Amino acid sequence: MRLSSCVILAAVVALAGCRGQTSSEPPIVPFRGMHEMPRYDVQERGGYFEDGRTMRPEIEGTVAREMEVDSQIDTGLDPEGNYVLSVPTAVVERGGGLEALLRRGQQRYDIYCAPCHSELGDGNGMVSQRAAALGVTFQAANLTDPGFQHMPDGRLYLTIANGVRTMPAYRAQIPVQDRWAIVAYVRALQVARGDAAGATADADNDQLPAGADGCPDQAEDRDGFADLDGCPDADNDEDGLADATDACPLSAGDAAHGGCAGRVSLDATDPTIVRLGATIKFENGRDTLKDTSIAILDEIRAFLVAHPEVVRVSIEGHTDDRGAASVNQTLSERRARVVLQWLVEHGVAGERLQSAGFGSTHPRSDNGTPEGRQANRRVELRVLPPPATEVPAAAAGPGGV
Ligand code: HEC
Repeated sequence: MRLSSCVILAAVVALAGCRGQTSSEPPIVPFRGMHEMPRYDVQERGGYFEDGRTMRPEIEGTVAREMEVDSQIDTGLDPEGNYVLSVPTAVVERGGGLEALLRRGQQRYDIYCAPCHSELGDGNGMVSQRAAALGVTFQAANLTDPGFQHMPDGRLYLTIANGVRTMPAYRAQIPVQDRWAIVAYVRALQVARGDAAGATADADNDQLPAGADGCPDQAEDRDGFADLDGCPDADNDEDGLADATDACPLSAGDAAHGGCAGRVSLDATDPTIVRLGATIKFENGRDTLKDTSIAILDEIRAFLVAHPEVVRVSIEGHTDDRGAASVNQTLSERRARVVLQWLVEHGVAGERLQSAGFGSTHPRSDNGTPEGRQANRRVELRVLPPPATEVPAAAAGPGGV
């Protein structure tokens, strides 16, 4: 009984407060913390951290899970700030090849772009038509116009991300990979001149749809050189020697060296050193080969093919002394490994090769100057003695180890 009368009393007291009038008295607040939460306003200065910022900036070098690590893919700009000229190869690889990427692009285009630009890309999609009927000026661009054919792929990519004038931005709706897929498809549409069916046909059966095939009637030769442009290349390095008769089809050379430039040789005084005559270059801080390195790798391959007596070779990576030793160590190992993989992929027997990394522990030059550091960042090839089993028994003397 007592409990219920307490409840009733409390209710009466509470209701007595609600008299339908405004009051200038401070309200009675039982749990103050729920009403007055301490908080910061946007951009407000705070006293908790020394720098006065209330939001912590991202820690340098960290990448959020959903962020794109490759800045060219993310921003559509190269390191100099120019538009990327063509869809990055990494995007094509992630997309499962060009054909798969184009199909994805077509599908995304039909969802996100066709309403305004139409399925043919001529700019007369439903929204444009409706705007015209209502007398509103809203005409999407004709993407097959010659002017847009010369637009760099990076700019097309950024147009999708950021919009342009009256076209809205699709950054939030279309993730990075799909934006590039759409770019690839728009290219296909342009080549096929608005013929959406023709853009994905493949008359020469080289797995490159007409829209992305520079030579829709000639099959690509897929020899590891310019295999995405759709045109066969009979003389990749354009040195006048057809690939079939060229020992170095990826590096220009002359007939005297069988089509190679003759840069790779055994050192005259120390035959355990393979002289390269050129540097194998990588992207800064990464284990990705620069395109310009392919020629020298091709010569190394040709050298190994022509010299079976060089039974085993050690591929050794070195860095300069900047940065953490552990990072340099792994980087040098990975780079040496990448060279090994390239050679194996291009026909050198894996048993003949081994790779190792030495970080910055074996400098060749002074790490104090930029030129010295440059010389220290290198991949070297050393000839190893043949495996022990092949050493003739007589060679192991009585006092041998
Ligand atoms: C809501 C309608 C609409 C959608 C959807 C749309 N666009 Fe546009 N787009 C426009 C309009 C309108 C223009 C012309 C803008 C202007 O010049 O004022 C335009 C212009 C462009 C241009 C020319 C840019 C330039 O520099 O002149 C490109 C390229 C383009 N769009 C690509 C795309 C792609 C790719 C998609 C799909 C992801 C897309 N658009 C989706 C309306 C749209």
